[in-house]
Amino acid sequence: VVALSRAIEHARPARTRIVDDPYAEWFLRPSMRAALASWKIGGPTSRVVDRLDPGGNTFVVCRHRFIDDHLLGSLDAGIQQVLILGAGYDMRAWRFRQQLEGRAVFEVDLQAIGDRKARVLERHRRELEPIDRHRVVIDFEVQTLADALVPAGFAAGTPTFVVWEGVAPYLTRSAVKDTLTSVASLVGIGSRLAMDLWYVVDDPSPRGSLVRSAPSALSLIGEPVTFPMHPEEAGFFLGRFGWEIVDLADGPDLKRRYAGGRSLAPSVYLVTAALMAPGRPCP
Ligand SMILES: C[S@@+](CC[C@H](N)C(=O)[O-])C[C@H]1O[C@@H](n2cnc3c(N)ncnc32)[C@H](O)[C@@H]1O
Repeated sequence: VVALSRAIEHARPARTRIVDDPYAEWFLRPSMRAALASWKIGGPTSRVVDRLDPGGNTFVVCRHRFIDDHLLGSLDAGIQQVLILGAGYDMRAWRFRQQLEGRAVFEVDLQAIGDRKARVLERHRRELEPIDRHRVVIDFEVQTLADALVPAGFAAGTPTFVVWEGVAPYLTRSAVKDTLTSVASLVGIGSRLAMDLWYVVDDPSPRGSLVRSAPSALSLIGEPVTFPMHPEEAGFFLGRFGWEIVDLADGPDLKRRYAGGRSLAPSVYLVTAALMAPGRPCP
């Protein structure tokens, strides 16, 4: 679904794209390719998507762009490796192969999704330049990152840019806490963590009720949203693991920065945090 959002964005005229992922459509199943082929701004497919999911599509591309911007800033500032947790069909390893200048990218995900990505990449191998990318299989709910990453060549204690995109809201609170603890103990001081979060809006109007019911609707595609965190509380929560927020963008910020007049899902936001203290286990 998120690859479809990025593929739809790629179908827009270049000057109006919030993010550009030319690889996204490789990962679409036939039904989604058909939807994409019939995509036209204001056309029937776009009207159906907007009706079913007002602004969710725009949030997905704003999220990718926000993380891209922070990643590029960190690469310029000398970050030494990239860790993508729940990488799915993230193609930053190729999209930013020039800016990465040979720095390693570790893509962590469940076995099944990583296998499918590997099959798609194999199909397109002639179009892909060689890069320093490592695939690491893990289930955050039952394994620790260090056990999986270090044997794969991850340099522990090194300043790292960590992407955690479209994952934490779907995990249990204890899995989120365990992953934050593992990441903080694995990467070096000065590392960056970019992630998205969502919260339960307190708007009492019927629209607020609709917004509150949207996460439950995601259960229908097998991704129940389980971990809420209000933006006012995010700094305190991440701080318990040694992370200090350096940027937080909520709906109005994302509209100002990227989305302009496009509708944007409320109740979702993005943060980038810097690791200021050595990682410590959090109760
Ligand atoms: C919504 S997708 C986001 C993918 C990618 N980060 C992106 O934005 O394109 C969520 C990803 O998290 C992964 N994921 C979910 N639960 C996980 C778990 N327990 N352990 C490891 N990966 C998990 C899924 O396999 C999937 O690739």
